[in-house]
Amino acid sequence: INFFFPLLSLPVSGPAQVRLVNGPDSCTGRLEVFYNSTWGTVCDDHWNLVGAHVVCRQLGCGMGLSAIGGARYGRGKDPIWLDNVQCTGMEAALSECRARPWGTHNCGHGEDVSVVCSGEVRLVNGSSSCSGRVEIFHNGSWGTVCDDGWNMTAAEVVCREVGCGSALSAPAGATFGQGAGQIWLDDVTCAGTEAALSLCQVSSWGSHNCGHREDAGVECSGNCEIHLKPTQVRLVNGSSRCSGRIEVHHNQRWGTVCDDGWDLADAEVVCRQLGCGTAVSAPGKAMFGQGHDPVWLDEVNCMGTEGAITECNLKRWGDHNCKHDEDASVVCSDPTELRLVNGPNRCAGRVEVLHHEQWGTVCDNDWGMKHAKVVCRQLGCGAPIYAPGWARFGRGYDPIWLEKVTCSGTESALSECTVQSWGQHSCHHGEDASVVCTGKAISGVPATGLWYSHMGSICSSFWAGL
Ligand SMILES: *[C@@H]1O[C@H](CO)[C@@H](O)[C@H](O)[C@H]1NC(C)=O
Ligand SMILES: *[C@@H]1O[C@H](CO)[C@@H](O)[C@H](O)[C@H]1NC(C)=O
Ligand SMILES: *[C@@H]1O[C@H](CO)[C@@H](O)[C@H](O)[C@H]1NC(C)=O
Ligand SMILES: *[C@@H]1O[C@H](CO)[C@@H](O)[C@H](O)[C@H]1NC(C)=O
Repeated sequence: INFFFPLLSLPVSGPAQVRLVNGPDSCTGRLEVFYNSTWGTVCDDHWNLVGAHVVCRQLGCGMGLSAIGGARYGRGKDPIWLDNVQCTGMEAALSECRARPWGTHNCGHGEDVSVVCSGEVRLVNGSSSCSGRVEIFHNGSWGTVCDDGWNMTAAEVVCREVGCGSALSAPAGATFGQGAGQIWLDDVTCAGTEAALSLCQVSSWGSHNCGHREDAGVECSGNCEIHLKPTQVRLVNGSSRCSGRIEVHHNQRWGTVCDDGWDLADAEVVCRQLGCGTAVSAPGKAMFGQGHDPVWLDEVNCMGTEGAITECNLKRWGDHNCKHDEDASVVCSDPTELRLVNGPNRCAGRVEVLHHEQWGTVCDNDWGMKHAKVVCRQLGCGAPIYAPGWARFGRGYDPIWLEKVTCSGTESALSECTVQSWGQHSCHHGEDASVVCTGKAISGVPATGLWYSHMGSICSSFWAGL
């Protein structure tokens, strides 16, 4: 009969130590726990993966991959310290799990518990916690992975293991700098379905023919989220949101841009970023009035094809030789009746439609890919990828112009779809509809900003999966 007793005698010095012995490394083997100055075993009655997770975490060995009974890694020696161990998974140490009192059991060593842990994986020196050099913890130390055979399938496994979504790229050749210490793995071959890198086929731990200049890295889709928050830009004191003095947000402050080198190509990028059509002019000399400190940017140098001003060639923020009578401005064409706003480029964002000279939003009731198809086509933004509702790109402002738009997907403009009467709805701005398009169909203009991560990898597969 299995009764559950609370742990009676936690050592005063803190959680009881554990170790895995008789396995190939310190993250695999028979589980032993240190109590009363003696190492002892754990009985497999009730033993399961949750307990293995707790043990692996306690050892800094990643997650539990299997919880094995029946003395798979050999029979230990007395004492048998724990029996009927029941963990919730929240415990920081095995000794915090419920079990029979220490030393109380009805087991023999043929029932000794073993654990296989994934070995911890981390990403080092990337631009975010979701990219970097792959390092794996093994036998008490962090080491790297050699890029021989390293590819997207392996990167996929790593990204999943570290909770960073799917893989965008599998950079080789110490792209994220050279690691130090052991090169733990070489010739990694993954099927792609493994829960952990250490479950892929690998040459034996520490055996390799590599140097650290071959350290493998990954870039995961978790990286794309960062790119969703481009530097904010606004146009101030013009006749609409699509003309005025340019101001950029940096370090929690709005500041101006100096007109040295300011030209139409620069303005083009700003108009695109704001969903304001194309650039009409790029006035300097504080044409829309003088702003206030700081002057954030000077000598901005865009090609005109960038998706956001931060992708242009910039000097350091705040580095300038200007006064506010040189503040740069932008006048955009302002598109006629449809725009995507608050996204990272003109081909993704909250849908806004112009009616009676007023921009308003569209409610997400019945909103879907057919609608996105029409919107992307109308804006010359290629194919639809995603038609999110629930104000995915922020809440808009009144009016809410449309609800329950019915499109077949073949229309050339949203206004050709069947709409209920304008302004009639039962929605709130938390339901604002958005669209994300591939942007590829813009002639010669890559829709940067959304589709490319910091390292230039395409993020669209990540988006398609959302
Ligand atoms: C693990 O490290 C110890 C030293 O810390 C070493 O003696 C042992 O050989 C290592 N085992 C493996 C499998 O690398
Ligand atoms: C980090 O990566 C860069 C390359 O992106 C490299 O130059 C640098 O040495 C790396 N630093 C460390 C500490 O690995
Ligand atoms: C990665 O390499 C493995 C083993 O060589 C192979 O089976 C797999 O198809 C490769 N994946 C890609 C995306 O090339
Ligand atoms: C707005 O722009 C006009 C010129 O168009 C300028 O005279 C005025 O000072 C500006 N106002 C502010 C608050 O910047």
